[in-house]
Amino acid sequence: MPAFTAVAPAKIILFGEHAVVYGMPAIAVPVPVLQARVIIRADVHGEHGSVHLTAPAIALDSELLELNPNHPLRKAVELTAQYLHAAYIPACQITIHSTIPVAAGMGSGAAVSVALMRALAAYLGHPLSPEILSELAYEVEKIHHGNPSGIDNTVIALEQAVYFVRGQPAQPIQICQPFQLVIADSGISSSTAQVVAEVRAAWQTNPNQYETFFKQIAQISTNARRLLESVSKTEPIQPAFLQELGLLMSENQALLVDLGVSCLEIDRLVQAALNSGAYGAKLSGGGKGGNMIALVDDESREAVCLTLKEAGAGRVIVTTIGRRKDNLHR
Ligand code: MEV
Repeated sequence: MPAFTAVAPAKIILFGEHAVVYGMPAIAVPVPVLQARVIIRADVHGEHGSVHLTAPAIALDSELLELNPNHPLRKAVELTAQYLHAAYIPACQITIHSTIPVAAGMGSGAAVSVALMRALAAYLGHPLSPEILSELAYEVEKIHHGNPSGIDNTVIALEQAVYFVRGQPAQPIQICQPFQLVIADSGISSSTAQVVAEVRAAWQTNPNQYETFFKQIAQISTNARRLLESVSKTEPIQPAFLQELGLLMSENQALLVDLGVSCLEIDRLVQAALNSGAYGAKLSGGGKGGNMIALVDDESREAVCLTLKEAGAGRVIVTTIGRRKDNLHR
């Protein structure tokens, strides 16, 4: 019997993290250069219904039913089987690999859920649509993040740039002219659930101030969408476009600092990127560590990567947004 393999990409949030939890729009894009990969092989000698899971990166090697009922991987398998009305899963071996850094704001949990559900649905003979995969993965996100907006599972399952408002169908964004981002890891691992909870506590203490911040972030996401969609399909990208997009990123970063979700390491990387020629820079995801992104072009790319490494960044990746095949990995 053949192996069933499925992948799902990492994601970054270009604009609007945290505010999106409160119903404001945000923009996210997939980052296929980093991905979760799940392989399912039928185990013809396995006991009836035996599902064995291995994830070498987290030293997991377990029968499904030995995992806690709330374990995200068990939940992902059971939600998929329930959705497909599968009375049982034919004995199999599930192997999970991921190159997406964990607790780094890049959607590692959602990507593993989507890849696992995608592979399992194929194994059970009923591939699922991206929309259904997103809905099912959202249920697992609740275990990871408590009160997720749903943006991570959406952009990862749809594998396309989205303008997202909580509770509404995602609106795909056409990015007609690709642009380059540097993604740099601060090396600080950070729990999105915890940072989201901290923002909630601060909002409860100071609702007027926080709602003003959220509305300002919403305006930035709206302006960014308009800008991204205004780009001509036929003309090469103009420096004015990069300047404007970069400015919106830096304005968003200033508001993330106001929300209290940046940190010294991220601030240092943002400043280093701007000093070495990036058009704009900000944290991406939950913040208080994790990854930051910087907007570059061919001229500034190498200097920004080098400066970020000198400023203490761990993994530094260059990715092209808007044209899948051009992703670079370093
Ligand atoms: C996490 O990728 C983005 C946050 O806005 C949380 C969420 O949207 O659920 C911080």
